[in-house]
Amino acid sequence: MKRQVLSKDSADQLLNGLYGWYAVCVSSTLVNDFLYFFSMYNEPLILYRDKYSRAVCIKDLCTHRAASFQGGEIKSGEIICPYHGAKFSSDKTSKDPDRICCNQIVDSTYNTYARNIQLLQYPCVEKDGYIYIYYTGNPSTNVHDIPIHSTLEELEFTPISYGFRTSEYVFEEALLDFRCDWSRIVENHLDILHIFWMHGNSLPGNVVNRKTIKSFNHKITKTNNYIKCTYTHKDNENTEFITQVFVPPGRIYMYRGSPETARYIQVLDHIPLANNRARVMVRHYRKFIKNSTLCKLILFSLRQRSIFYSIFSEDSDSDSSGGGRRRTHKRKHRKSKKRTHKRKHTHKRKHRRNRTKKHRRRH
Ligand code: FES
Ligand SMILES: [Fe+2]
Repeated sequence: MKRQVLSKDSADQLLNGLYGWYAVCVSSTLVNDFLYFFSMYNEPLILYRDKYSRAVCIKDLCTHRAASFQGGEIKSGEIICPYHGAKFSSDKTSKDPDRICCNQIVDSTYNTYARNIQLLQYPCVEKDGYIYIYYTGNPSTNVHDIPIHSTLEELEFTPISYGFRTSEYVFEEALLDFRCDWSRIVENHLDILHIFWMHGNSLPGNVVNRKTIKSFNHKITKTNNYIKCTYTHKDNENTEFITQVFVPPGRIYMYRGSPETARYIQVLDHIPLANNRARVMVRHYRKFIKNSTLCKLILFSLRQRSIFYSIFSEDSDSDSSGGGRRRTHKRKHRKSKKRTHKRKHTHKRKHRRNRTKKHRRRH
């Protein structure tokens, strides 16, 4: 049952490449008896809660005859394939506690055969309101056969293991899908200057906008687990603008000051769904308003939400493989069409007026 942890040398998350821990969903989304379909690098996957309410991640593939579970059911943590009705569940008390086995297919004559039909899984862990999976591109019927190089804590991947005292904050979340490669979004979120130029109009206050755009000093720290960059003002080196921490493969923290004292933390998770399809999960932790009830006031959240969405829609205009440019072009095109139409229309009207005048003169 114990996870295999390799030597400390292999705990270098920056060398692990694209495989490893990803936050793929927030806990509140994954309610009991709900199949959460998503994908990683084109591989169709499902998250759900088993009969012990543990989050599990399976490949969306019934290993009986390779059907998808789309259109299938889940009852009391038991997943039912829509094709021939095979029922799968995990059983902590069985001799195969690490597997999700078929309990029944057709009738009891097939029970022995059924037990050998097992679903493919990825290691899945729930922490601090996030569902994390350890993605390797190679799922297994026994989840503990997948070697985990480092735990989330060793990698300082979870906000708490990085040093944030999350219990002192309230948070809100937003989730967005983009039609572009996920690395474009990671790069976009690490790019400070575009915030001034592109999002200046959407951000509240008058500190960050096109007029205040400027370059910063960078202080870069690289550890085995992450790359951290602190931006300070050039005219006052002691004043920090923001700190960004990239925890590969897909997490970014943004805050100011130290993790223990920051009043505001943004956690961005980037999920590589498929070719040119990326998902971003943003969580904002804040301490501005100590009264958590006040902080959760619907109007406050709506305001935050509308800011997120306008910022993200500005990004998707420019990031989705030139979509923005195309849209602008279309808009221009539409305008010029309108103008041409107007001109034609005015011309016709003039022509008609002249004809009527001539006609009147003749009579
Ligand atoms: S393919 Fe799922 S039960 Fe047959
Ligand atoms: Fe942006």
